[in-house]
Amino acid sequence: MDKFLIEGGVPLEGEIEVSGAKNSALPALAACLLTEEPVTLRRIPLVRDVQTMLQLLERCGASVHSEDGVLRVQAAEIVHPEAPYELVKTMRASSLVLGPLAARCGRARVSLPGGCAIGARPINLHLAGLEQLGARLSQEHGYIVAEAPNGLRGATVHFDRITVTGTEDLLMAAVLAEGETVLSNAAREPEVVDLAALLTQMGARIEGAGTSTIRVQGVRRLHGADHAIIADRIEAGTFLIAGAITRGRLVVRRCEPAHLTSLLHKLRQAGVEVTEAGPDTLAVRVPGKLISVDATTEEYPGFATDLQAQYMALMTQAHGISIITETIFENRFMHVLELARMGANIRVEGRQAIVAGPTPLSGAAVIASDLRASASLVLAGLAARGQTVLDRVYHIDRGYEKIEEKLARAGARIRRISEL
Ligand code: EPZ
Repeated sequence: MDKFLIEGGVPLEGEIEVSGAKNSALPALAACLLTEEPVTLRRIPLVRDVQTMLQLLERCGASVHSEDGVLRVQAAEIVHPEAPYELVKTMRASSLVLGPLAARCGRARVSLPGGCAIGARPINLHLAGLEQLGARLSQEHGYIVAEAPNGLRGATVHFDRITVTGTEDLLMAAVLAEGETVLSNAAREPEVVDLAALLTQMGARIEGAGTSTIRVQGVRRLHGADHAIIADRIEAGTFLIAGAITRGRLVVRRCEPAHLTSLLHKLRQAGVEVTEAGPDTLAVRVPGKLISVDATTEEYPGFATDLQAQYMALMTQAHGISIITETIFENRFMHVLELARMGANIRVEGRQAIVAGPTPLSGAAVIASDLRASASLVLAGLAARGQTVLDRVYHIDRGYEKIEEKLARAGARIRRISEL
């Protein structure tokens, strides 16, 4: 298992370029199953979760050609409309093929995702929505089978709670359903809007993406498209915090500032100076003291749960007490104990973590537990005195493209140790 070796205490200087959004790439790849024509997707990040999704598409029968982040996918014929356990267990977002397969083939057999470090993360809302669209569901041997031999029919689908991939799954099912579908209490994330843009390019008829109510007029078939996905707002936010926690002067390029409003607001309240140095460029520095500021995670456009762990690392260096509340997942404080081992003063009470700062961090051997917790530990390692060894970096490779190379180009003393 690979490890990262980090020598902390070096302010990051210079520029870092953001990749395409992992959480846009995954639904966009699943959408390729909706047409027999070739789809070209650009700015796809070469991260583990994307590799897993590509394996899944090939397993279904699609052909995949990948070159420098430009992917050409063609699902001319779907021979196996299914997502096997051995792939789903490594990436729960495999459930994104449920909607497209049910819509395209009238049948889908997808392994139920197992548990996950950050929470139970059921897909009951995906399944309830598919039933609303006329699919007949059954469960066997840990698999969900969805059948719609006569095709899906449009309906009003209300989500009991906002779900990002649930919205995306049902959006992809609805575009080929007969008649109108209304998705109510839909997720408003930029990745949902990006998926709707791709589907519209493929010939779908969608209104309201980015709002809580999305209306879809089903069409009989979709055609190919050529689409560049949006920048990864979570990667961009992670790098902004890296610049702040190391008290460097960092420029983050090819990002989308409009997708980072809640984080930028929080960072500025905390004494971080973030300036727009161009339409897709943000510059970050910390002129004075870092100040503790509370944060509560919410669905977009609120403070992103995927930035909670990274923000907590920053708050360990801020003056005062900050209360960080996680409302989206029930177990997303796995990074707290590891940060504490590096010297952080954090107390967890249910859904809240109380951070008292600033506390000097010292490098330590730490273990990554999930994707964003790993990022938080890298940030803490960059700020800590001495050496940090981060184990199980496969977690971070799931969602960050060559993060150690990007950080090293900005002056970080970080390198990967590959162990057989
Ligand atoms: C997406 O996961 C992201 N993944 C997650 O990013 C992100 O943390 C999450 O949205 C929230 O923003 C992708 O887009 C691939 P949800 P998703 O369905 O769709 C509950 C990362 O780090 N729920 O919006 O799985 C669920 O348990 C990853 O890149 C149900 O109860 O999240 C959670 O508590 C981690 N039933 C809440 O809703 C359902 O059927 C929000 O989950 C679906 C969800």
